Amino acid sequence: MHDPFDITDCAAGAEALAVLEGVGRSYRSGAVAVDALKPLDLCVHRGDFLAVMGPSGSGKSTLLHVLGCLDRPTAGRYLLNGHDVSRMPDRELAEVRNATIGFVFQRFHLLADESALRNVELPLLYGGVPRAERRVRASEALASVGLEDRVAHRPGELSGGEQQRVALARALVKRPRLLLADEPTGNLDTAAGGRVLERIAEESRRGMTVILITHDPEVAARAGRTLMMRDGTLGHP
Ligand SMILES: Nc1ncnc2c1ncn2[C@@H]1O[C@H](COP(=O)(O)OP(=O)(O)O)[C@@H](O)[C@H]1O
Ligand SMILES: [Mg+2]
Repeated sequence: MHDPFDITDCAAGAEALAVLEGVGRSYRSGAVAVDALKPLDLCVHRGDFLAVMGPSGSGKSTLLHVLGCLDRPTAGRYLLNGHDVSRMPDRELAEVRNATIGFVFQRFHLLADESALRNVELPLLYGGVPRAERRVRASEALASVGLEDRVAHRPGELSGGEQQRVALARALVKRPRLLLADEPTGNLDTAAGGRVLERIAEESRRGMTVILITHDPEVAARAGRTLMMRDGTLGHP
């Protein structure tokens, strides 16, 4: 596999999906400044499956939020699928995010008062997909995670593993180029986590680019490469 920290020629290459050039993220809360992400270079190729490990507070979520365009870098340049997203206006950024990225969070982030089907339909609704097509595609996405019998259930009526599979179906329903998962199995038991992980690995085998944060070395072992975050710096394990 290529060296993900070598961005020489990376931005010009057609195989590069996400390129961070000196990207950093600092937070300022009152008088306290935190360099959550120290300036780093990273080249993610199409089809890569990367695991990111590291202690709590080391900056893993910050990295994933920047990669997912949920947060902006305070330094450097981020090229996603050929677009410079680091300085893109909010509206445009939201469009690029919706068209390119699927995100799975540790705590699911499902709408509590909506059915599994409605939750999975949401990204299609934002994307302007007509109702009938939304239904079909959301149903297919739920079936692909083994939840065809739970479409009408609300999150509170589902187990943690089932809720995470709904969240994964929601992330996959638009066939994103880049799937980002922030400790997706962190709140699940081994069996439930295994089902989520297997589905993610299946997408990776089919060519989807995946970046996954985990504390579990067995989970990380499923990825093609593991990177280690320490104190805002990304390196080899
Ligand atoms: N919104 C924020 N405002 C201020 N500091 C933050 C914010 N988000 C994260 N941090 C700080 O940045 C550092 C990295 O956080 P985070 O990326 O969540 O780490 P990890 O996911 O590895 O546990 C932590 O020290 C945290 O306190
Ligand atoms: Mg985190």
